Amino acid sequence: MADSFVNSPMRDNWYQRSSFYGASFALITTVSESGQTNIGPYQLSAPFEVIDRRSWMIISRPTSNTATNVKRTLKCAMNFVEYDEERIKTVLEFGYPGQTTEEKMKYNTFDLIDSPTPGRESNDIYPKIIKDAYQVYECTLDVERINENPILRDSLSAHLLLNIDNILLKESWAGMLDGSGDKMPNIPLTYGFRGASTFWFGDSKPAYKLPIPERGPKVEIVMYEANRLDDEVRFTQEACEQLVGIPPAFIVTVLEGIVKVAKERDVIEIDEAFVIQVNKEREEAGY
Ligand SMILES: Cc1cc2nc3c(=O)[nH]c(=O)nc-3n(C[C@H](O)[C@H](O)[C@H](O)COP(=O)(O)O)c2cc1C
Repeated sequence: MADSFVNSPMRDNWYQRSSFYGASFALITTVSESGQTNIGPYQLSAPFEVIDRRSWMIISRPTSNTATNVKRTLKCAMNFVEYDEERIKTVLEFGYPGQTTEEKMKYNTFDLIDSPTPGRESNDIYPKIIKDAYQVYECTLDVERINENPILRDSLSAHLLLNIDNILLKESWAGMLDGSGDKMPNIPLTYGFRGASTFWFGDSKPAYKLPIPERGPKVEIVMYEANRLDDEVRFTQEACEQLVGIPPAFIVTVLEGIVKVAKERDVIEIDEAFVIQVNKEREEAGY
């Protein structure tokens, strides 16, 4: 039978009350007022700025220990752990609002250690990190940019804009960043709070890799590569269309060559005519 679409109404926390949103989560460590490391699980937590700078956005209820602590100390660590059915139970307990850090740490099953980053050893400002995490982002709250932005500043939630100071990766995973290995971390999933009394979790099946389709570069890809090579020199769309047929392995080298010629001739906008001219000169020179 056909399954029709129906409209889902707006409700507070609509992502879990009016829809299905599955995602992973981070265990955020911060330092409580009494100097103890606090752990809070956060699903609404995602990369924010990804070019030129590393920043992160967390959306928290405004009165959480995490939001209170990070606003006071400005520092936190986002710990990413692999799926472990037993430990998920601790994560769920950590997610129950209204507990003090002392109460939470009594049933904690995660080992906490000092950060290996010099100057970031645990104290009243810097939290401990989770020993078994496969990666940890060490962050600083960007109070200045939050206050400059009314959406972040006046939010009913705490929108925590964090600059990522360091990414700590376990050595065994660092070697596989380029996908050369056959493994990915076993990333846990949460589907959030459902109905009145359940919180849903899952583990992902082992990750697998597929080769990227070989379709030759599209003009958007050429433009993306071309316009990030130099701060001043810009390629027009028509210029990039001239370069679409070049095999992916050579495209950056070719673009760099064109930028070099443009710099020598004080050209800052590379148009179709310029590309044709450079190609002609290269052919004449026997390249
Ligand atoms: C897996 C999981 C993900 C959660 N994600 C969020 C979230 O993104 N934002 C939020 O405000 N609360 C989230 N919660 C609820 C918080 O964990 C809860 O408010 C908790 O009290 C926070 O701990 P803290 O007060 O020690 O910071 C989540 C809970 C769980 C179990």
